[in-house]
Amino acid sequence: LTQQDLAGKTVLVTAGPTREPIDPARFLSNRSSGKMGYAIARAAFRRGAKVILVSGPTALTCPAGVKRLEVQTAQEMYETVLQHSEQADIIIKSAAVADYRPGEQAVHKVKKEEISPALSLVQNPDILLELGRRKKKGQLLIGFAAESRRLREEGEKKLKRKNLDLIAVNNISGENTGFESESNQLLLLSKSRVEQLPLTGKLHTADLLLDRICSL
Ligand code: C5P
Repeated sequence: LTQQDLAGKTVLVTAGPTREPIDPARFLSNRSSGKMGYAIARAAFRRGAKVILVSGPTALTCPAGVKRLEVQTAQEMYETVLQHSEQADIIIKSAAVADYRPGEQAVHKVKKEEISPALSLVQNPDILLELGRRKKKGQLLIGFAAESRRLREEGEKKLKRKNLDLIAVNNISGENTGFESESNQLLLLSKSRVEQLPLTGKLHTADLLLDRICSL
């Protein structure tokens, strides 16, 4: 039996991309598959946690025992996460939230002749930043960062700015890491420690990440 080191804890995990509609047929999104977040949800449940998974659109099935709440847009993810954040002991934000959304959404499909070559975009709320502001005593907040260069510097900046306990930096320019991949190689940064995880499967990566979180 897996060690039940998360028994009695509520873990809130976010996963996948968000979709930001342009019209009823089109949206802006990104390459996130949701695999890392789903692996974390699965691993946390196995270790005894009550797991709430707030997921953007993915092709993945919900891991057994996990309560999944499905959302589409960053705004919906923001609302759903904030509704459940109070009860969470540990929040792991592995979703790739779209930073921007189209300024307005057309009610009807925009015709080819009418499509404006310039989309006007507005900024989405930063969910993690807001969670960092509201963080309760004893609550652990873990962020992800998808970076293609200066991994440690970028990670340290976000750790501080978003008031996180730990950040997992993904190298998205690696061949076997990050978006869509089955494996990952995370750089973990906390205030006091830097740890390079090995290149390994996402479920094993999830367990190594949870090991670190349990030791915080
Ligand atoms: O600043 P950056 O977007 O790189 O930070 C990534 C982290 O912030 C991830 O954990 C992601 O889930 C979270 N995030 C968020 N809301 C946003 C953008 C990012 O929660 N609008």
